[in-house]
Amino acid sequence: MSALFEPYKLKDVALRNRIAIPPMCQYTAVDGLINDWHRVHIAGLARGGAGLVIVEATAVSPEGRITPGCLGIWSDEQAQAFAPVVASIKAAGSVPGIQIAHAGRKASANRPWEGDDHIAADDARGWQTIAPSAVAFGAHLPKVPKAMTLEDIARVREDFVAAAKRALDAGFEWLELHFAHGYLGQSFFSTHSNQRNDAYGGSLENRSRFLLETLAAVRKVWPEHLPLTARFGVIEYDGRDEETLAESIELAKNFKREGLDMLSVSVGFSTPAANIPWAPAFLAPIAERVRREAQLPVSSAWGIDTPALADRSVKDSQLDLVMVGRAHLADPHWTYRAARNLGIDRPSWTLPAPYAHWLERYTVS
Ligand SMILES: Cc1cc2nc3c(=O)[nH]c(=O)nc-3n(C[C@H](O)[C@H](O)[C@H](O)COP(=O)(O)O)c2cc1C
Repeated sequence: MSALFEPYKLKDVALRNRIAIPPMCQYTAVDGLINDWHRVHIAGLARGGAGLVIVEATAVSPEGRITPGCLGIWSDEQAQAFAPVVASIKAAGSVPGIQIAHAGRKASANRPWEGDDHIAADDARGWQTIAPSAVAFGAHLPKVPKAMTLEDIARVREDFVAAAKRALDAGFEWLELHFAHGYLGQSFFSTHSNQRNDAYGGSLENRSRFLLETLAAVRKVWPEHLPLTARFGVIEYDGRDEETLAESIELAKNFKREGLDMLSVSVGFSTPAANIPWAPAFLAPIAERVRREAQLPVSSAWGIDTPALADRSVKDSQLDLVMVGRAHLADPHWTYRAARNLGIDRPSWTLPAPYAHWLERYTVS
């Protein structure tokens, strides 16, 4: 029996299987507004059969976008524009999720296929970045951010709260806080980027403060019966891994205490000097450790792109949900193929009827 196709329930939300599509930026928005590209892209992914679709990192403020092409949810107009997308995910039998984000010192960048570097200082498309400390990421992201004042910290926390309310109004049923990948949340936690000597820097407790306060504030407006999750880089691969992991597990326990329902376990990406051991499913054992020690449900991604690997990570209790990203860009019907591959009864019915009916007795090679 496949573990991957077992249903899963978190709070009041039921997923038809353990496959989730992780947030994947498309960098194609104008003024943060969702457009036809996103509508077709997201509906197509949802039709493929995954239990959960999480809409890409969506900025809580203009300055929080990674690139000028990133989605935003700082206005009612932006939030309302998500409604058809939410409807298309639900119509496909999947659950609509969204990741809300602030890119911190990695903001104001060019699209990945246009350099992936900071927008030049004399280019009007760019903007002043903010971060816990005035420390640049380095290499291709050399812009020195403005160190946030206490007022800035309170404002960004409230931006997350406003974004959460708007996401709820738009109909999303699963909310993920983007605290990973060297963006603002992660950069408060990491000593690579946080050199503050006030209540938001220094000790583990202080470096956790922005994340825990933001989570607690969002939990107050995000309904108890709906899942609230966070994506966080629990490890940097910078030579201090055991120490970082122990701190991350402590943070995960505190997240749980503040009402987090699941942690999406990822990499920190806080320093260009990291030496990441890329390999299929390399993070799954780390996620399993976080799950076991923090007693918190976990999801994870990174190279879990074959049905066998995905199934095993659930069967071996490493992950509660498997995030399958790029494999879904290559084949939006990855879930259907996985169902066939794992010998699921009537696999075609992971797809909508207008496809399923024709594929029931016809195997696509
Ligand atoms: C095009 C693209 C955009 C991405 N955008 C985001 C994002 O918005 N938020 C995020 O947390 N991760 C983002 N990621 C990382 C993915 O969520 C995922 O972790 C990564 O692709 C590894 O999983 P995979 O090996 O299944 O592709 C992005 C990845 C890709 C390929």
